[in-house]
Amino acid sequence: MDIHTGDSLELDYPNEYFNMIYFDPPFNSNRTYRMSATSEVGFDDKWKDEDYKDFIDKNIKKLKKLLKNDGTLFFHISSSCMFIPETVLRENFKFVEPIFWKKCRPKNNVKNKLGSVVDIIFKCNKITKPKFNLVYQDKDEKYIKKSFANVDERGNYGLGRIVTERTKIGYKYEITIENKTFNPASGWTIKKEELERLISENRIHIPSKSNVNLYKKIYISESPGKPCTDLWDDIHSIGQGNEERRYPTEKPIKLLERLILISTNENDIVLDPMCGSGTTGEACRKLNRKCVLNDANKDAINVVKKRLAI
Ligand SMILES: C[S@@+](CC[C@H](N)C(=O)[O-])C[C@H]1O[C@@H](n2cnc3c(N)ncnc32)[C@H](O)[C@@H]1O
Repeated sequence: MDIHTGDSLELDYPNEYFNMIYFDPPFNSNRTYRMSATSEVGFDDKWKDEDYKDFIDKNIKKLKKLLKNDGTLFFHISSSCMFIPETVLRENFKFVEPIFWKKCRPKNNVKNKLGSVVDIIFKCNKITKPKFNLVYQDKDEKYIKKSFANVDERGNYGLGRIVTERTKIGYKYEITIENKTFNPASGWTIKKEELERLISENRIHIPSKSNVNLYKKIYISESPGKPCTDLWDDIHSIGQGNEERRYPTEKPIKLLERLILISTNENDIVLDPMCGSGTTGEACRKLNRKCVLNDANKDAINVVKKRLAI
C-alpha cells in the first residue's frame, strides 16, 4: 500500500493506471469538521461556488487520466451539494449513474426542513461495458416473503425469467405442458432441451391461466441474495452503526467494500486521492486489492497509519 501526504493534483502515476478511484472530497457544505471542540483533527469545507467548481474540475480531469479505460470512478457527495459535482462529471464522463445511499434513519432533531438522509455516489465510466461484478444484498425477511412466495414440495421458491425481453429475440419453439401450449413472441432465454429437462425435474412454474409466461423455480437456498440496485439502504453511517469513528467525515467500511467488489477483482489497484481516515485502504487490504492513499492533511495520514498499523 502506498501512502502520500499532499495535494491530490500532485499525485504522480502513469495514465490509465488505476482500476477504481474512490473520490470523497470536501462537499462544499460551508462547515468546519473537527473530531471534537478541542481537536485539531479535521478539515475546513468553506468555499465560493466558483472556486469549488474549479477545484472539482481540476481533480476530475486529473483522475480521469489516471483511470483505466474500463475502470470506474466513484464520486461521493451529499444530496444537497450534488449540483456542481454532477455538472462537472457530466462534462467529463460519458456515463454517469447515481447510486442513492440512505445513510441514516430519519432525524428527530430537524424542525424547519426535511431531514437529509441520502448521499449520492456517482458511478462514472468512460465506456459502456466497464469491469463490473454484480453484488448481492442479504436476503432479509421482507425480501424472502415477497420474492419467494410460491411453494411446492421442495419448499419456497421465486420466479426466474426464461422468456426473452420484448425488445430482443431468443430461441423460438413451442412447448406443451399440462395441456397448455406456450410459444412466446420474443422467444425463450434457454434452448428447448434445457426447458424439457427443467419440466421433467418439476423446476418450472406453470401459471394457472393460459397465455401467461412460464418461469424457472428458484429456491431460497439457490439465490445468492437480493441483486444490488442503485438504492442502498442496508449500510449505516458510522454514527448509526457500531464502527468506531476515527475522523469527522469517515465512511463505513461496508460501503467501500461494496464499491470495490462492484468495480474490481483481486490484485486490481485502487486510488483514494482524499482518503481521510483511510477506509478505502482497510477495505482494499481485506479484499486483496492494491491501494494508493493520499490526503493533504497530515493529521488524517497519521490516523491512516495508526488504523492500518503502518
Ligand atoms: C470527506 S473527507 C474523506 C473521508 C474519507 N473517505 C474517510 O472515510 O475517512 C475529505 C478529505 O479530503 C482532504 N482534502 C481536501 N483537499 C484536499 C486536496 N487538495 N488534496 C488532498 N486531500 C484533500 C481532507 O483533508 C479530508 O480528509
